Amino acid sequence: MTQHLKIAVLAGDGIGPEITDQAVRVLQQLSAQGHFGLTLEQAPVGGVGYRASGHPLPQATLALAKSADAILFGAVGDFSLDTLPRELRPEQAILGLRKELGLFANLRPAMIYPELAGASTLKPEVVSGLDIMIIRELTGDIYFGQPRGIRVLENGEREGFDTMVYRESEIVRIGHVAFQAARKRGKRVCSVDKANVLETTQLWREVMTELGKSYPDVALTHMYVDNAAMQLLKAPKQFDVVVTGNMFGDILSDEASMLTGSIGMLPSASLDAKNKGLYEPIHGSAPDIAGKNLANPLATILSAAMMLRYTFGLTQAADAVEAAVRKTLSSGMATPDIYRDGCQRVGTVEMGDAVLAAMN
Ligand code: IPM
Ligand code: MG
Repeated sequence: MTQHLKIAVLAGDGIGPEITDQAVRVLQQLSAQGHFGLTLEQAPVGGVGYRASGHPLPQATLALAKSADAILFGAVGDFSLDTLPRELRPEQAILGLRKELGLFANLRPAMIYPELAGASTLKPEVVSGLDIMIIRELTGDIYFGQPRGIRVLENGEREGFDTMVYRESEIVRIGHVAFQAARKRGKRVCSVDKANVLETTQLWREVMTELGKSYPDVALTHMYVDNAAMQLLKAPKQFDVVVTGNMFGDILSDEASMLTGSIGMLPSASLDAKNKGLYEPIHGSAPDIAGKNLANPLATILSAAMMLRYTFGLTQAADAVEAAVRKTLSSGMATPDIYRDGCQRVGTVEMGDAVLAAMN
């Protein structure tokens, strides 16, 4: 029997709508080709959600996200709303979804397509063949730790504070995700921490080391985050799976994206314990290019492929999307972010058209 997928589409702000449109077209075409049945439901989120109903994550949007089998997410962020209290800012939508849905495991693959080796700011020989999987813990750490705030001291000076905190159980569950992912890849895990300074990450290192003993077939190494940031630029191909906390993972995954030529190429999956997931490009809402048909839709299209693979187990359909993206890149089509000499400069919609054509 054909699987039926119920997908919530939360396009969000800035370039969110134009890039999710292209990924939706890809899903619709696969459905039309008989790969699966499809129900898509859209809902406002981020700045758009705030404008529609006074909250970046409206109740109805959260309810839809909970009832769907998976979520395709665009981007949130709107500078004009940055003066709102933090709990009403667009970014709270994605943080709220991650927390409410228990999406603790964030998979951010950074691999380079041969065509784009020259698009990276690093030398082609440093990045060609790169294939890293960054696994970022997504519902803990300083992002969610309490207490936090800005308080006024007795002398009238203001003081900002946040709490970095990890429970053993949180470290263990993300650790399992990393070791299991490594088993399907290069069998190496590098756990990134700052155990030389921070207690939280000393515990992180101890727990990872302990857990590593149940995966004798996987080689575990540890690296301080500052060194990891440097090694990613110096010799990125040394990494297979990188596992780290929420804050460090946020930073290192942006850094890793530029190894691949453009942040416009990197998809991500945020999974719960049952592999239900939210899928989104790792880039933001890019308000400066929104509505101009300039954004690269490939990260979102590749996120849809990850959805098919991780939540629905539709390997063949996922492979078809990834192959179509590769074909499109090698045909020389390029949005401005990945433009190289000799390429054909195209827009968001034309890139989507090309991927659809390559899937026929
Ligand atoms: C990301 C983003 C988010 C984060 C923002 C939008 C809250 O940078 O997904 O990496 O910090 O996690
Ligand atoms: Mg980020």
